[in-house]
Amino acid sequence: MKILSIETSCDETGISILEVKGSKNPSFKVLANSLNSQIKIHAQYGGVFPALAKREHQKNLPILLEKTLVKAKLASSVGLGPRNKKIKPVDLIAVTSGPGLEPALWTGIVFAKELSKKWNVPLVPVNHMEGHILSVFGEEKKEFKIKKINFPALSLLVSGGHTELVLFEKFGKYKIIGETLDDAAGEAFDKVARMLLLPYPGGPEISKLAEETRKRKNSCPEKLNFSFSLPRPMKYSKNFDFSFSGLKTAVLYLIRDLKEKNPNILENIDIKKQIAMEFENAVVETLVYKTNKAFEKYKVKTLIVAGGVSANKFLKSEMKKIIQKDQKIFFPNKKLSGDNSVMISIAGALKYFTNNKKTINPNKIKADGNLRLD
Ligand code: KG4
Ligand code: ZN
Repeated sequence: MKILSIETSCDETGISILEVKGSKNPSFKVLANSLNSQIKIHAQYGGVFPALAKREHQKNLPILLEKTLVKAKLASSVGLGPRNKKIKPVDLIAVTSGPGLEPALWTGIVFAKELSKKWNVPLVPVNHMEGHILSVFGEEKKEFKIKKINFPALSLLVSGGHTELVLFEKFGKYKIIGETLDDAAGEAFDKVARMLLLPYPGGPEISKLAEETRKRKNSCPEKLNFSFSLPRPMKYSKNFDFSFSGLKTAVLYLIRDLKEKNPNILENIDIKKQIAMEFENAVVETLVYKTNKAFEKYKVKTLIVAGGVSANKFLKSEMKKIIQKDQKIFFPNKKLSGDNSVMISIAGALKYFTNNKKTINPNKIKADGNLRLD
């Protein structure tokens, strides 16, 4: 069976085609994976501009579809090649229905519905966050399966729009046990980067500066003579919720105070690096502390860390430290940590097989910007 998936929840337009073998414990192989990032377009606004994202998705989807069909060697079956057979090129379509920016989600859904009708193939709506959870099993180049893991499993989902701790006893049935009450971790990275005059998306930029400072601190600590600390909001709260907006404000005040003494302070790269490191320390410390607490309370056997922020080196190394001998930890491959459509294929196929290949009427599929996992 071949599955085509479409992802347009934020600022990446993704279309991929996977070959799926078997249905009980299916194996997957990526035939083509296309991704068009709008980062450069949104960078000038310091974040994603929804109307612009929608326009770009609309423009990119047909181009990307053709490119993906050609790459997967399926173009001739839809009339793009000399054979012009015009048969259905895939057996199933999966599309992200939420959460995300609703105008952006709708473009993907409308496009998917048109294809589903034209080719007469079923359409499965996918929760983007479930896609992130399953992204940890994805491989770009080789065949892969959804690994058998021990339950209960816990997933820390950290992206530009979400920070959630999700507990589950099986794939497909999730319980959110904690989430951010304000900004998402990735959003905080992006906003603090903007304060430090770093480009969007800010996560990788802050991480790079923080890593450099950490290395330097280890090799010649005397060079760091500027000392300050940032808060770890809600670290010791009794629940598993997070908050990052107070931390972001603390950075804002810190920079304001420093600027009062020296208006050109942000031209000093060492100061920027130290703020980046302390900020990253504060975010990672909170994420790791709460995840560890949930581990103990729910006797977790498997940890899945996913979403754009899971690419963060320091988060990875600190998370690995809390894993005991009888526990396992999974991160996505670098290429599948950010938004992509391969993860939507995996989640779509899993949902299709779990529901015994029953699908809902495509006309009933709607975009839901606030779609939850539970
Ligand atoms: O999952 P994702 O690609 O999109 C959403 O669904 O939001 O996550 C994007 C977020 C951005 O906020 C970006 O700054 C952050 O992930 N990010 C990082 C790193 N790489 C991406 N944050 C911290 N460290 C990184 N290395
Ligand atoms: Zn995402």
